[in-house]
Amino acid sequence: MLAINWAQCHTRPVLMIPGPTELPYPVIQALNQPPTIQYDRGFDEKVLEPTTLALREVFQTRTGEVVLLPGSGRTALEAGVVSVVEPGDRVLVVVAGQFGMLMREILLRVGAEVAEFTVELGSRLDLERLAHEAERVRPKAITLVHNETSTGTTYPAAEVGRIARSVGALFLLDTVSSVAGIDVRTDEWGVDLNMTGSQKCLAAPLGMALVGVSQRAFEAMERRRQKASSFVYDLLRWKEQWVPVSRGGKVPDGSPRRQPVSIPTHLTSAMSVAVRLILEEGLPHRFRRHEVAAAALRSGLQALQLEMFPDPSVLSNTVSCVKTPNGVAPAAVVVRMRDQYGILIGTGLDTMRTTTLRIGTMGLTASPLYVLPTLSALELALRDLGYKSESGAAVAAAQATVADAS
Ligand SMILES: Cc1ncc(COP(=O)(O)O)c(C=O)c1O
Repeated sequence: MLAINWAQCHTRPVLMIPGPTELPYPVIQALNQPPTIQYDRGFDEKVLEPTTLALREVFQTRTGEVVLLPGSGRTALEAGVVSVVEPGDRVLVVVAGQFGMLMREILLRVGAEVAEFTVELGSRLDLERLAHEAERVRPKAITLVHNETSTGTTYPAAEVGRIARSVGALFLLDTVSSVAGIDVRTDEWGVDLNMTGSQKCLAAPLGMALVGVSQRAFEAMERRRQKASSFVYDLLRWKEQWVPVSRGGKVPDGSPRRQPVSIPTHLTSAMSVAVRLILEEGLPHRFRRHEVAAAALRSGLQALQLEMFPDPSVLSNTVSCVKTPNGVAPAAVVVRMRDQYGILIGTGLDTMRTTTLRIGTMGLTASPLYVLPTLSALELALRDLGYKSESGAAVAAAQATVADAS
């Protein structure tokens, strides 16, 4: 009998990795246009400014600015850090996984005096201990990864923001895998730098870095002893060239902005459509959708008798990190799912690479339309690799969760 390869008829796998994620069709269409000129007034007035203003709603800030730079999540982190942190500044860094380590590395490179607050992988954050540490260190800034994509955990950013305020520290938050998928309240939580990338829950193409900057953060930049060592990523320069006088910048109201670097017009257009779709959906609906989709995925994983990696109190709604059964290599599951069933999920990172899988529910993919086929393919792939489970149980469990929430 001829063996069937179910992936072959598709030109690409469905992206169930934790970013980049699937793009809504109108976002893809926005990329398919001839070039415009980045310093053209029409681009500034019709695309860039409305997108920046709409992003303030997504970031839930009325008083801050959202800066859009070419790059990725790491660009946002580096631009934020290099703009406010000077050599010798004390910074308290919460490290709960790979992306906390990344933040530490960026801080060390700008010469910060780093005090590390380590959280065991997948565990909850001890807020009382963090508050004591903040009192002891008296840092200029506290950094947190809101959603640690490497372990599938979400940390209590509102509470950490309160701790930062109580010791007069700036609050730097990596929201690369949370913004537009999990509630992030920039103003309410006192986030001074809200740093993210375009390719995850915003459901825009990879290539833009976004930084929400509070007025407090701009003031800290203005008080620097020396100019930031980076010309391109100095966000104070962005403020001066980008923000109108009426919002505290130096661009006369109604005048075109200067571009601190040439802004990618196609990516900005795609971002403008992505943001429109987010606001049309509404943030509360979008967060609830991610919550239910992730819960449905987890019910399915449980029905497959698979155990989640993190502590139940910190489970993320945008990335699920699950342990593979004994004797089944995560990489083999990923390859089988991709090559035979056309769905791409990820393995764990670093020390968890050989024991865990990571599945994204971000933007479009936070839906039964994607979660149910993923569970079905996972069940089949595991069976192909010798792991037995009750046929159809995963999909049935996920459907029940969706039905309960509907
Ligand atoms: C929490 C977090 N921070 C930072 C990054 C780095 O972002 P990028 O890959 O867009 O540079 C990622 C990427 O997955 C991430 O998940």
